[in-house]
Amino acid sequence: MSRDLPCSLSTRVNHPPRLRLKEWNLPSAQPIFQAAKFSVDTLDGWVERSNEARESGEELFLYSRISNPTLRELEMLLAELQGREDAITFASGMAAISASLLSLVSKGDEIILFRESYQPSRTIVKSMLGRLGVGHQLFSITKLGELEQALATPVRGGGNRILFFESPTNPICRVADLERICRLARDAGALTILDNTFAGPHQHGEFPVDLILHSLTKYAAGHGDVTAGAVMGSRALVARIRETAILLGATLDPHAAFLIQRGLKTYGLRYPAQCRGALEVARFLSSHPRIARVFYPGLESDPGHATARRQMKDMGAVLAIELKELDAGAFVSKLKLFAFTVSLGATESLATPVLPLYGSDLTADEKRECDLTTRTVRLSIGLEDPTDLIADLTQALDSTQV
Ligand SMILES: Cc1ncc(COP(=O)(O)O)c(C=O)c1O
Repeated sequence: MSRDLPCSLSTRVNHPPRLRLKEWNLPSAQPIFQAAKFSVDTLDGWVERSNEARESGEELFLYSRISNPTLRELEMLLAELQGREDAITFASGMAAISASLLSLVSKGDEIILFRESYQPSRTIVKSMLGRLGVGHQLFSITKLGELEQALATPVRGGGNRILFFESPTNPICRVADLERICRLARDAGALTILDNTFAGPHQHGEFPVDLILHSLTKYAAGHGDVTAGAVMGSRALVARIRETAILLGATLDPHAAFLIQRGLKTYGLRYPAQCRGALEVARFLSSHPRIARVFYPGLESDPGHATARRQMKDMGAVLAIELKELDAGAFVSKLKLFAFTVSLGATESLATPVLPLYGSDLTADEKRECDLTTRTVRLSIGLEDPTDLIADLTQALDSTQV
């Protein structure tokens, strides 16, 4: 609005003065585009113009559910970190998973996943997509021979197949052999989606998975103050997911995107430091008399260690333990530094009894196969001094009654 147009206060405050910064005088932190909409000269030919702009590497914006500059900057960064052409962000990791699967499957298709995956992902496949006529098969990540056999048989009715998997898995930190899984899927013509949340955005990008997906709520944001998700892949696949995402509307808020960008600035320091803490805690716990087993790929004794050494730079800040005779809930409630809660990858340490949260859809045999028991606890190691964390674990192990 022109400054010399006479108007009342209520008009002026709704058309405030705007500063346009010079290219040579920009802020060191990019401002947040906290706007739901962007004005245009005309809506005629909007779709063609925005497609043309994207083709030529420019971006046009109309409505933040469709796209927003703060989100695009985060998406461009995430795509680059994982070595992919494009990315799309979401309001949560689950929004990223559900929108991706919904945009890629049709009735008669089949999703293969591992039992040792994050329970809500299993529920989306088994219940939500099951209701829509999408089939599924579940295998253990430790029995890839069974997966190979299943892939050798085409989907009944000629449907397409998606292999959806995590590495390391939530909550027991089993390691998927990415090279073998990618080879098996490629030979069988199945599309691959890797939930890379536990490994983080600096790992696994070199493997030929079609889509890489993250809960950014965890390591990327890092401070436990936002929920977000993202999917990275080829321009064509991401465009397909974006169409569905725009309709579903599970869009990330620009302020949350800014917090994730800020969190990522210290990711390269946080993640390895948390991994060092996790290894120290894992080593301590594996020699404690009240601990039956420690699940952490960074331990030489872990069944996934050799595969993890081949394919991971850092082993993650999450480990799981099986207590010898103590109940997981009773033990966790004795901890003073570890918060008794869900989630992982934050700067503070967290402890979660896994069975009530992650096993309710599994049969007793499946729970056994996945090592989910009333004595299993997942620990996420933060940035505290590991000596203090070990002291806290020691007092809780010593004081919990059987
Ligand atoms: C492996 C994995 N995938 C997806 C999710 C879902 O992410 P969000 O909680 O951001 O929806 C989680 C959350 O814990 C997770 O651990």
